[in-house]
Amino acid sequence: MNIKRWSNTSIAALFLVASSLLSVPSFAESEEKQLIDPRNDAYQQQHPDQYHSWKSTSESAVIEDALHEDPNMVIMWAGYGFAKDYNKARGHFYALDDVRQTLRTGGPQDENSGPMPMACWSCKSPDVARVIDERGEDGYFEGKWARLGDQIVNPIGCADCHNTNSEKFKNGEPELALTRPYVERAFESIGKPFDEQSRLDQQASVCAQCHVEYYFAGPTKAVKFPWDQGTKVGEMEDYYDALNFKDWTHKVSKAPMLKAQHPGFETWREGIHGKNKVACVDCHMPKVTKEDGTVYTDHKVGNPFDRFEDTCANCHTQTKEQLHSIVSSRKAQVLKMKLTAEKQIVAAHFEAQAAWEAGASEAEMAEILMDIRHAQWRWDYAIASHGIHMHAPEVALEVLGSAVDHAADARTKLIRLLATKGVTEPVTIPDISTKLKAQQALGMDMDKMNQEKKHFLETVAPKWDKAAEQREASYQ
Ligand code: HEC
Ligand code: HEC
Ligand code: HEC
Ligand code: HEC
Repeated sequence: MNIKRWSNTSIAALFLVASSLLSVPSFAESEEKQLIDPRNDAYQQQHPDQYHSWKSTSESAVIEDALHEDPNMVIMWAGYGFAKDYNKARGHFYALDDVRQTLRTGGPQDENSGPMPMACWSCKSPDVARVIDERGEDGYFEGKWARLGDQIVNPIGCADCHNTNSEKFKNGEPELALTRPYVERAFESIGKPFDEQSRLDQQASVCAQCHVEYYFAGPTKAVKFPWDQGTKVGEMEDYYDALNFKDWTHKVSKAPMLKAQHPGFETWREGIHGKNKVACVDCHMPKVTKEDGTVYTDHKVGNPFDRFEDTCANCHTQTKEQLHSIVSSRKAQVLKMKLTAEKQIVAAHFEAQAAWEAGASEAEMAEILMDIRHAQWRWDYAIASHGIHMHAPEVALEVLGSAVDHAADARTKLIRLLATKGVTEPVTIPDISTKLKAQQALGMDMDKMNQEKKHFLETVAPKWDKAAEQREASYQ
């Protein structure tokens, strides 16, 4: 049983006395272990500047519907959760609201229902660090997403990036920490254990706990980073291929697909700033000087252009307009290549479907489906790395170029194969000009999914909040 230090201090003290009398030091030692406090408010008094700037990530509140902007993606993710809905990132403050509200997590009515595993909480909350600390990794990961819904209730915060129990942190030092053991293992796999990293590296590594590529592995569907062969797009592709791993089978083409998460850390490493050890924090969490002359780290992670003087201008002499126009034109270039790749990949999915319908065999399709898998993996690696047009535009263009290549290979082979089956007319693509039309083309019942979600938010989510409130009331 877990003895909670904060709720049972006096009992613990009694045990300490008893155990020292009986001279059982190991027990006394384990009793010293402090539980992680996941509540961000708990650190407000200790560190008001960091707390208030952290809290203002709530100002980045706008929800942008990425599928509405680009309905091609509905087709590319056909048969997978992301075709249901996919919004662009907003402030850290909203991480939990958003994972509850997305159709991807469905409308579970009990702890065993719902499409997603527990792993889906992993980059949303310091409660993840707490539960792993208290129950171990298996105790956290096993089961469905709804199993510990009442345990994961505080949005991304202090105990995600800091060792909040250390004396140094209490005294105002950063004490950065990796708060998930699977992240520690990933850094060991690339020969960069966190404890041996420089301060600059550590500043990027704390972000890499979440802004990375990962997948769900093994019987408990635990998070693992596919870094064993390296962090470049081809190295991770080889890793997945060697494992025969797939995230899902594409509903249209039947290809064994990979879904990239957000390999922002991996692509930043390849870019000019990463290579010069300009860390995420230099741009997204600058040091700022208060009126009284003291300095603190601004925790309002957001768009660095919003406070140019504290970020880019620390190192660059160009004006904000100059640098912004460079970044904007790169954004436009990346967007154009993204759409070029999508056009090819969407066509390949429908042509593969036509080939199956025309009687193609598994053997005839195998190589083609791998081309499609690789094309889309590369496209996703580039576009799911949010901000890549700023962090590593040349990587984005190169990787998207290789996506176009793989899709072109698939299509060349498909046209030949289709011809051998007597199909010589171009394959028609249904109307996918809006998000809804694309979802209808796939036969998705959006009304049903929206109803289930609404029901979940009205009935289950409030129960989670209530149970959490009662549990947290026992924290000191
Ligand atoms: C996303 C990661 C992240 C989160 C969340 C986070 N911090 Fe930090 N924190 C950092 C980084 C990075 C630094 C700067 C490290 C450095 O200077 O090497 C820092 C620095 C600090 C420092 C050292 C003094 C300073 O300002 O540089 C304190 C104290 C601190 N944070 C408190 C908090 C508190 C309190 C919260 C929650 C309200 C919090 N942090 C949430 C990453 C984070
Ligand atoms: C515990 C996981 C986690 C950690 C650690 C983390 N992030 Fe995030 N970050 C997220 C998630 C999840 C979102 C999207 C939240 C949403 O949209 O609900 C996000 C969103 C963002 C955004 C978009 C914000 C906006 O207003 O649009 C930026 C920028 C960002 N993170 C940078 C960073 C940086 C820099 C660090 C390290 C100092 C970091 N993150 C650490 C999980 C994390
Ligand atoms: C040299 C400065 C710089 C560094 C270093 C940097 N970023 Fe960024 N990042 C930016 C800028 C600027 C933008 C916004 C680009 C724009 O406005 O188009 C951005 C955008 C983002 C976004 C997308 C935000 C959104 O709402 O779409 C995320 C997420 C992000 N960065 C995370 C990170 C992480 C994680 C790291 C480190 C691994 C990092 N950044 C390193 C400057 C930087
Ligand atoms: C901590 C210092 C630092 C900060 C902060 C910083 N940069 Fe840089 N930046 C560099 C360095 C170093 C280089 C590489 C210079 C070289 O190799 O000539 C660079 C290069 C660049 C380049 C040219 C390289 C290329 O890709 O063509 C651009 C553009 C740029 N930075 C934009 C920005 C923007 C925009 C911001 C703010 C969001 C920013 N930088 C913040 C240090 C910084």
